[in-house]
Amino acid sequence: MTSARPEVRVDVHLSDGDIDAALATDVRAGLTAVPKELPPKWFYDDRGSDLFDQITRLPEYYPTRAERSILDAHADDIAAATNADTLVELGSGTSEKTRLLLDALSRAGSLRRFVPFDVSEQTLRDAAAAIADDYRVDVHAVVGDFERHLDRIPVGGRRVVAFLGGTIGNFLPDARTRFLRAVGDGLGPDDALLLGTDLVKDRGRLVAAYDDAAGVTAAFNKNVLRVVNHRLDANFDPDRFEHVARFDEAHEWIEMRLRTPEATNVQVRALDLDVEFLPGEEMRTEISAKFTRARVEETMDGAGMQVEHWWTDPAGDFALSLSRRS
Ligand code: SAH
Ligand code: TRP
Repeated sequence: MTSARPEVRVDVHLSDGDIDAALATDVRAGLTAVPKELPPKWFYDDRGSDLFDQITRLPEYYPTRAERSILDAHADDIAAATNADTLVELGSGTSEKTRLLLDALSRAGSLRRFVPFDVSEQTLRDAAAAIADDYRVDVHAVVGDFERHLDRIPVGGRRVVAFLGGTIGNFLPDARTRFLRAVGDGLGPDDALLLGTDLVKDRGRLVAAYDDAAGVTAAFNKNVLRVVNHRLDANFDPDRFEHVARFDEAHEWIEMRLRTPEATNVQVRALDLDVEFLPGEEMRTEISAKFTRARVEETMDGAGMQVEHWWTDPAGDFALSLSRRS
């Protein structure tokens, strides 16, 4: 038997120039704010994506393994509940766990198309090519910012939109609501959203997952400084910054920061900006919000969607929920 070769298409909505311009805006706003702050999407250049891939294999970083175990147990239930012909994946990265969903949709006989969407172009291209090789499925990859380019996702068919890895936790609450509302608005009546959320748990395990003994997360956190050095001709010395991870009990989120034990001056030459870091100053680089079932249901409700299914791993560390427009 012969079969048509699958089609691989990559749409690029972010040129290098667009990335520089968006980074310049974020860096100027973030480094002149009090307290200073940098948004997390800038971790993920090629080196950052590779470091994140290493994080997913760390003994302390349980979320990837917990989410994979849910997919192991329930991918066929997800395939049955969605009967999807198109799997869209936001923030897809290497799409490694996603293969469990592709397997289940293939077994169910419904899968026709995979649409991975990420800001990190080379990681996306590699994943798209590997999946087209391994599955007899058309791949339509989208390089873009999921806060700006959701409208570039191809429509048609029955789609399941997966947003895995707990990346939803990396939005601040207002941005989270805005993002989920935009995702919900894009769903048709037959489409569904599969959302991965990390759950509230023992603080020691939470903090260890973001402050591993081998220092990979520290290197990942500091990678944002290298990205700014490279793209905006800045002179951050990553060795003068310390990685900090704390659990904020009131907000139920992990906060990642970079701390300067000594006073440090930095020039961002492309912005003509001089920045002073005081001794002990901390700059926030990311939050990672932790959820409960009630919080997910309330969040989805606020975005015009309703949770139809809820699955967790046996330990209750992580959850996958399947929602539709209400
Ligand atoms: N889904 C994978 C990767 C999670 S890491 C997993 O579960 O392991 C978060 C991913 O989101 C990275 O691949 C990063 O490049 C991507 N990402 C972060 N901010 C983004 C944005 N604004 N637009 C598109 N992709 C983004
Ligand atoms: N979505 C991942 C999370 O919140 C991203 C992540 C994991 C991350 N480890 C990190 C981001 C360390 C910054 C630093 O779990």
